[in-house]
Amino acid sequence: MKLAFKKPSNETQKAMSKAALNPFVGRGINPQIKSAEEKIQELTGHKYVKLVNSGNSAILTVMNALESPFILPDQGGWSGFKKMAQILDKNVIFVPTEKGIIYPDLLEEYLNQLSVQASALFLTSFAGYTAEQPLKELYDICCENGVLLIEDASGSVGDPLKKLCNSQQAHVIIASTGSPKTVNVGNGGFISTDKNEIFQKSAFLLKTLKADAITAAGMIAESKNASSNLIKTIYACDYLKKNIPNTYHSDKRGINVIISSMDPKTHSRILREKINAEGRSIITTCPLYDRLKEKAVCLEIKNLDTLCLSKENMKDIRDAVQSTMF
Ligand SMILES: Cc1ncc(COP(=O)(O)O)c(C=O)c1O
Repeated sequence: MKLAFKKPSNETQKAMSKAALNPFVGRGINPQIKSAEEKIQELTGHKYVKLVNSGNSAILTVMNALESPFILPDQGGWSGFKKMAQILDKNVIFVPTEKGIIYPDLLEEYLNQLSVQASALFLTSFAGYTAEQPLKELYDICCENGVLLIEDASGSVGDPLKKLCNSQQAHVIIASTGSPKTVNVGNGGFISTDKNEIFQKSAFLLKTLKADAITAAGMIAESKNASSNLIKTIYACDYLKKNIPNTYHSDKRGINVIISSMDPKTHSRILREKINAEGRSIITTCPLYDRLKEKAVCLEIKNLDTLCLSKENMKDIRDAVQSTMF
């Protein structure tokens, strides 16, 4: 098998080089940044979009504008949620999940028994990047309970089914456009919302953490590939989940594949030798908050260039896993 690590498309690289060679020297907002914000607005459907220099900057900016406590999933989230809350000295509480998935009735029960009013639920579109959350149902429950739903859509921008990264079912959408993400610029992030007061409250942070014009040019070009990257990655993961035993959430859409293991350390070590993208690892060892807190091995299919997600390569990955783990 010959696998390649994801990189920005040639068109994106050219657009970024052009932006670097033609710095904007006029007054007011840089037109590249304005145009990238409009592009993201088309994808999410929210009224307002601001670019920032990373996904964690987006999380920091949003958390800064809100009162705590924040609700986080007990696993399958993003460790940056915990870190940014800690930096801002805000409290977090954890909602129980079923292997990362927040079930709507579980969330409702959890909110009913809380003795404090939580301001927001932070979650990633795909629990552990492996299984989509029931966003619409969770959003409805959040609305009924005065809680904002903040979706980290780093893995789901451009969802063709519009079930993820959609203004209709998230009060705020944030994303990283770093590497390797669905909008794979190598740098940057964004915040998308109808709630302009979040931007007003965090105006100074937004100025401090703003994205540059080169990143904006990259976002404009790379966002065109988001849907097709996502479709191909979900398709490859679906094949692997259905053809490898003991995968988690095999019935759900995801962009990586998590396999239960009795000996994750040894299995990961052997699999890193057998499956890698020109020497770069696509294997993560669990338990891990960002994936699943289970003994497991994770195949980070999302890190691969979509050009190498062929049936043949997927069969070879399956065979390597079979011969190592079963
Ligand atoms: C789900 C998720 N959110 C946010 C981030 C942070 O993004 P950045 O590296 O751009 O700060 C990452 C990084 O891997 C991520 O996986």
